[in-house]
Amino acid sequence: MVETSVAKPRQEQPLNSLARMSARKEAPKMSGEGRLERGKIEMAKVDKHSHEAIKAKKIQKKMPPPLWRERAEFLPATAEFFRRCGIDPQYVNPTPLGEGLTNVVFAYIAPDGTNKVVKLAREARKGFMSTGYEQDAQNIALVKKFFGEYAVPTEIHRDPETGKYLIVQDAIEGKAVTNKLETQSVRSQLVDMARLNREMMRQTGYSMDFIGVPGMLTWFRHQFRQIVTNKSEFEISNILIDKEGKLKVIDEGLLRLKKSETPKQWIGSTSGFLANRLIMRLYFGVDLQPDLTH
Ligand SMILES: Nc1ncnc2c1ncn2[C@@H]1O[C@H](COP(=O)(O)OP(=O)(O)O)[C@@H](O)[C@H]1O
Ligand SMILES: [Mg+2]
Repeated sequence: MVETSVAKPRQEQPLNSLARMSARKEAPKMSGEGRLERGKIEMAKVDKHSHEAIKAKKIQKKMPPPLWRERAEFLPATAEFFRRCGIDPQYVNPTPLGEGLTNVVFAYIAPDGTNKVVKLAREARKGFMSTGYEQDAQNIALVKKFFGEYAVPTEIHRDPETGKYLIVQDAIEGKAVTNKLETQSVRSQLVDMARLNREMMRQTGYSMDFIGVPGMLTWFRHQFRQIVTNKSEFEISNILIDKEGKLKVIDEGLLRLKKSETPKQWIGSTSGFLANRLIMRLYFGVDLQPDLTH
């Protein structure tokens, strides 16, 4: 028999959340004597060619590197905020998955096991895209209403104690739309989305932000890189192509052009819209703005 010294049961280890996630995934495979801890296996008295020893060695190799255990955790106040919003912070990966102008985005595994993202608004950037809960809730509803299948299931969770909130959205596994992705399917979906955007603008005065600030930054970079390489491209950061090739709007932020409530929002919206309209017309041949003359 293999002699193993398992210091503590796995559950008692101070695992960080990602390790917990992987523990959850790996748990069925590692029941019983498989629950070995990295570096704790005493191999001396065992024939190293025995079946058990080989198996133990394999398990040892599969364990995550020790670095994982020292990774950052959320601050207690943030973890508490998650809890009050109905999110178990242990299932949120503290390393951000992405970020934009307003949000920092984290991967989250929902209680039903589905992959989601949690979006937290940065304190310093609040007010550019949305003035608060009501506008964000309205944006989510409008994207769903006007963009239908292109919208991603999105919820807004409010902390009853402080009134602060976060956004939970289905995670989209896919790639960004770039100016080099010129498949017929992507093009026709963009034409369709521009049509829906014109309709939303006609009815509400709001436009979707197709490109987003990270996308704009890739566009600026592209202006220089394209001089030296023809591999240069830029991204539309708020739309992803999912595994089935369907375009999905992952940023529920809208550019509020007509009913802007604050100067901050007006500046953000108009400059964002101008850039969006020009770039979408130039590179993708679509117009985001309706003809308002008739
Ligand atoms: N539903 C999602 N699935 C996968 N990645 C996402 C999702 N939502 C956001 N992201 C990632 O996070 C980044 C920023 O998210 P976004 O909602 O666009 O923030 P902002 O409103 O600040 O622009 C995106 O560019 C993308 O990389
Ligand atoms: Mg964005």
